[in-house]
Amino acid sequence: MPKNTITLTNNATGETYEYNILQATRGPSVVDIRSFFADTGMFTYDPGFTSTAACESSITFIDGKKGELRYRGIAIEDLAKNHSYLEVCFLLLNKRLPAKDELRDFDLEIRHRAYLHNGLQKLFDAFPDNAHPMATLSASVTALASFYKEHLDIENEDEYLEMAHRIISKIPTLAAFAYRHSLGIPYIQPDVDLSFTKNFLTMMRAYPGGKMHLCASGHEHIKDVEVRALDTIFTLHADHEQNASTTVVRGVASTGAHPYVAISSGISALWGRAHGGANESVIAQLEHIGSVENVEAFIKKAKDPNDDFRLMGFGHRVYKNFDPRAKILKSLQDELREELNLDSELMAIARKVEDIALSDEYFISRNLYPNIDFYSGVILTALKIPKSMFTPIFVIGRTVGWITQWIEFKKDKTSKIARPRQLYAGE
Ligand code: CMC
Repeated sequence: MPKNTITLTNNATGETYEYNILQATRGPSVVDIRSFFADTGMFTYDPGFTSTAACESSITFIDGKKGELRYRGIAIEDLAKNHSYLEVCFLLLNKRLPAKDELRDFDLEIRHRAYLHNGLQKLFDAFPDNAHPMATLSASVTALASFYKEHLDIENEDEYLEMAHRIISKIPTLAAFAYRHSLGIPYIQPDVDLSFTKNFLTMMRAYPGGKMHLCASGHEHIKDVEVRALDTIFTLHADHEQNASTTVVRGVASTGAHPYVAISSGISALWGRAHGGANESVIAQLEHIGSVENVEAFIKKAKDPNDDFRLMGFGHRVYKNFDPRAKILKSLQDELREELNLDSELMAIARKVEDIALSDEYFISRNLYPNIDFYSGVILTALKIPKSMFTPIFVIGRTVGWITQWIEFKKDKTSKIARPRQLYAGE
């Protein structure tokens, strides 16, 4: 019977070392090199962790070649079509979808926890006008840790869940407050009568006092189709296994810091435009391109090895065929085209960028396809959400993923403080 091991030979000395191969339930197996340094006196070198599994996880599975994404074993296409974002939150936290009464209780609890402590509300006043909502959001989540000190020492499953429900519930309120502060307009308090997603849209849009069902134009203030679209966007962002921000969350968790501080660090990591900040950059870039006639020139810049310019919303470390989240959003975009009046100049530029990139040898040979951020930016623009709120919306969706990963890390008896080594090249 073949051995489930791998043998490495040091060609300088002829010494050989044998390592176990650990079988994954789906996707690539891993070589267990935990004793590599002790055996060989050498480190492994893998900047950007392109070949390194940093943990064992049963939350999210991605097959980058097939364009497959599953939460707790369930395909993202099924979840996006047939389940609400709150059902997805329950699934991630509890490893199964909720029964009807469980969903009702969970929904009620999330609605009731959405308010902010008065002291925390005052924090927003300390930020300058026009502060980017990501900066305010990250800081306010750190501040939240000071209001819920008890979570620093939590030890059991019930406490984990209470801590998780609290942050999932408060994140939309914090994001909406961050936004309204950036405009200098009065905050809208959460409303327990509203669903998770409608409540967020209301806190963003409502007239001071919050009692507004029709806009000045006479149209319905928040359309059901908008709530459904945003709910799907939250679901598509809910988790994405060991991406950069989740790796940061696990790293902070490994030091024993407060869970909300770990989430705040994840928010900071997400802000960059190589990661969640790409959705804001996509629209900024399309606006910068300015007209359909200019698209070719920008594509040329993106292909130029001597130019740093990159096409925002294209490419992914893991997806090398297509991003399944992008595919779902593309069809959502087609469904919404008429209802949300998507046929703008911006859309025409986006379509031209997409058409050229998808048929260009440079992009095809490097497996660069539109990712989730390419389409979410366009849909969020149609929902009249300002650019600066795109990444906070990614944060709202991803918070459940980060906190589920935090819980998994805490329960894993083999987890250790994150402490990589280096190839020293100094004096
Ligand atoms: N435009 C032009 N060229 C690109 C792009 C792009 N968007 N992305 C990668 N390339 C080229 C890159 O120059 C390199 O070319 P070469 O082999 O000639 O040197 C090749 O493709 C491989 O790129 P890489 O930087 O080694 O790939 P990576 O896996 O390290 O980076 C990425 C992945 C997402 C950071 C990168 O594709 C990128 O910067 N994309 C634009 C930003 C973006 O849309 N980010 C959102 C990602 S999805 C949301 C999320 O989950 O965070």
